[in-house]
Amino acid sequence: MQITINAAMTVDGKIASILGNSEISSEEDLSRVHELRASVDGIVVGISTVLVDDPRLTVRLATKQVRRKHPARIIIDSTGKIPLDSRVLRTASKVKTIVAVTELAHTDTISKIEKMGAVVIVSGKKIVNLKKVLSTVKNMGIKKILVEGGGEINWSFFSQGLVNELIVTIAPRIVGGRQATTLVEGEGYPSISSGVKLQLQKVQMQTNGELVLYYKLRN
Ligand SMILES: NC(=O)c1ccc[n+]([C@@H]2O[C@H](COP(=O)([O-])OP(=O)(O)OC[C@H]3O[C@@H](n4cnc5c(N)ncnc54)[C@H](OP(=O)(O)O)[C@@H]3O)[C@@H](O)[C@H]2O)c1
Repeated sequence: MQITINAAMTVDGKIASILGNSEISSEEDLSRVHELRASVDGIVVGISTVLVDDPRLTVRLATKQVRRKHPARIIIDSTGKIPLDSRVLRTASKVKTIVAVTELAHTDTISKIEKMGAVVIVSGKKIVNLKKVLSTVKNMGIKKILVEGGGEINWSFFSQGLVNELIVTIAPRIVGGRQATTLVEGEGYPSISSGVKLQLQKVQMQTNGELVLYYKLRN
């Protein structure tokens, strides 16, 4: 399994404003992200990202020649609260869509999601068991994964040692806000030395002053 986290943040580490606005990337950066999407088998996002952004998670804005097949969309959603009119579910019969829920999700909720054309995986008691979900999707041929947030999902992937690579775009902006979501949320590590260790591989400067940093995870 190859797992990459990609995110865009402001210089002060926010991936959204206090109101949940996350339009941080420039057009150039969006093209890069869509080209990256085209190179993976599946894209993972948390339910809060779907509720706030209603993303499509498809390959539309690539400028380079890329394969046309959209990766599968995998939504991490404990109780199955994904709206039936969300963009991912509305297009679930055309683009493979997987909703990973827990035992808390009601059977009628699950069948409504399935009726939209999505596959539902039940895994975990209160929060979704990511390792089990990854092993299930691997059996479906989804081996290269792009995690596109948000902060809580990023924390779960990092803290469980599931990440191989982090790509982060730093936009020349500051938005502040105590409640604004940062790149990694969750409980956090108690000290800097116990945090996740990264090795910088590449720095790319984009035309509007954005920096794209490529990190590998260090043991
Ligand atoms: N700039 C960027 O690159 C970028 C990218 C993505 C998102 N965003 C922004 O980030 C914000 C959303 O981020 P967020 O941190 O609030 O939420 P999130 O990571 O999108 O979703 C977190 C939710 O997923 C569910 N979940 C189920 N199992 C989980 C598990 N094992 N680990 C973690 N979460 C699990 C939980 O809700 P339930 O228990 O209710 O299921 C949890 O609250 C939005 O404002 C969005 O715009 C920005």
